[in-house]
Amino acid sequence: MTERKKVTVPDLAAWREGGRRISMITAYDYTFARLVDLAGVDMILVGDSLAMVVQGERNTIPVDLDEMAYHVRCVARARTKALVVGDLPFGSYQASAQQAVESSIRLMKEGAEAVKLEGGVTVASSIAAITAADIPVVGHIGLTPQSYHRMGGHRVQGRTAGFEPGGRERLLEDAHAVEQSGACAVVIEGVPLDLAAEITDKVSIPTIGIGAGPHCSGQVLVMHDVLGLCEAEFRFAKKYADLRTAVIDATSSFVDEVRGGTWPDLDHSFS
Ligand code: KIV
Repeated sequence: MTERKKVTVPDLAAWREGGRRISMITAYDYTFARLVDLAGVDMILVGDSLAMVVQGERNTIPVDLDEMAYHVRCVARARTKALVVGDLPFGSYQASAQQAVESSIRLMKEGAEAVKLEGGVTVASSIAAITAADIPVVGHIGLTPQSYHRMGGHRVQGRTAGFEPGGRERLLEDAHAVEQSGACAVVIEGVPLDLAAEITDKVSIPTIGIGAGPHCSGQVLVMHDVLGLCEAEFRFAKKYADLRTAVIDATSSFVDEVRGGTWPDLDHSFS
């Protein structure tokens, strides 16, 4: 069997050019990063979604840069073939382009190979500054979870016309701004599939969709949704396994055996 090659940033452009679709999944620790890498995923996103699925927050706003840096370090230690992208959390890049560069450097020092940040027109100068520091950037437009309060929750964007944030024309502008500032790819989240298709057609960089239909250059999902680890189920996600049930069943068997005195047996004991 030929060994899988390390995924690099230039591969993304080549794959877009050649029509090969890109897969990305989130992971937040060493063990799961190893597993999803073995499965052959192209990109691992250490997403700020960890605020919700790891830390139990209602949205992604509370997680900070120190916490993201810790999880990037855990994932990077898995030395994956997949490209590791570190998410810049809320408050780590909004203040200035300089802050954005410094936060990006921090995640790169922990082992990220690219960073991701949310927004279009409003963060274009920060994307350009990070790129000028030789740090690859993945943009993120549409339903940007860090805009939770402005959007009034996690709401599908681009359903109405206009240049206001969340309007269809604005999202096209955002996509162009991200592309022109030098991003190597852009996540499109929570938009109607025809708009995601139009953006994919109009920009030259790969588009990676989540809740954005089948016409993007690639797809991303949160690992907990793919593995069925959480109670919540979403229309935009697919549960490829039911690990929640598996974890509950395995743990309850352990509890029963401890209570029944059948664990540990002699095979698992030392003499
Ligand atoms: O943080 C995250 O997991 C993300 C994906 C939903 C794209 O940004």
